[in-house]
Amino acid sequence: MKKYLPLLILPLLLLVSCKKAAEGESSKTITVGFSQIGAESDWRKASTLSIKEEAKKRGIELKFSDAQQKQENQLKAIRAFIAQGVDVIALAPVVTTGWDDVLKEARAANIPVILIDRRVDVSEDGLYACYIGADCTEEGRKAGRWLIENVGKQAGIAELVGTVGSGPAVERKKGFEEAIKGEPGLKIIKSQSGDFTRSQGKEVMEQFLKSPERDQINVLYAHNDDMALGAIQAIEEAGKKPGKDIVIISCDGVKEIFRQILAGKANCTVECNPMVGPYLFDVVETYMRGETIPPRVIPHEDVFDAKNITQEVIDGRSY
Ligand code: AHR
Repeated sequence: MKKYLPLLILPLLLLVSCKKAAEGESSKTITVGFSQIGAESDWRKASTLSIKEEAKKRGIELKFSDAQQKQENQLKAIRAFIAQGVDVIALAPVVTTGWDDVLKEARAANIPVILIDRRVDVSEDGLYACYIGADCTEEGRKAGRWLIENVGKQAGIAELVGTVGSGPAVERKKGFEEAIKGEPGLKIIKSQSGDFTRSQGKEVMEQFLKSPERDQINVLYAHNDDMALGAIQAIEEAGKKPGKDIVIISCDGVKEIFRQILAGKANCTVECNPMVGPYLFDVVETYMRGETIPPRVIPHEDVFDAKNITQEVIDGRSY
């Protein structure tokens, strides 16, 4: 990702901000167009709900578009939002590349774009105003560190990768590999995409468990909980014990993986916070008041395993 250069962008933001303030737009209903990736995981459904509920709470008009995991649908949606003259566009980009043209069109229309949850690779700075989302490389590192601290320095690892070309898939892989690179006994012996879905997580795990390397696999690192949940079924169907014969580490922190950890069928989840609605609309309202908005917002995230998951924690979780 191109580095965001606050000093270069600040004057632009101030200009845009001043314009909003001068037009006195704070009295009208704020309209936000939101292009969501899809509904591929429990995490994604929680993120959609958080944004819809927060918009409703604040009286913001939300134009919602579900791209069904296809970038072409996102490009169409953004162009439609520009044509409708929304105040702000929020985008959760399915992949990192291919956004330059449409972001330039939004900039030409003077509509700021706020990225949610996934980053983009763009050719110049200033094509988006703010990125609200996790540090997925750090999530990968946390998963790798948990493995070393809790399993040890010898393991055959199977990796379920997220959507090919998406920010979290690239970064969670990179961070994990970084964390284990000093340990030659920790080897990734299988690695394939399960597209962040439960069904493909199961399918790919089934293939792993039929491969010649099957008996060397004693750890699964899944880039999200849904793929891990699919893999748990595949492991059980293959007559093995998930959480014991194969240690399971994933990312997200959805309720169902918490239940599996409590039941001993999974071992660790690195949280990625989907409750971004309040963060998003704080930024939108700041912009609409004519104030400078932050270039980066990182929601708070923890690591969960059998040591800190209880039934109470599960009951208190909204997703
Ligand atoms: O971009 C965040 C990822 O996308 C989550 O880890 C995954 O569950 C979702 O589909």
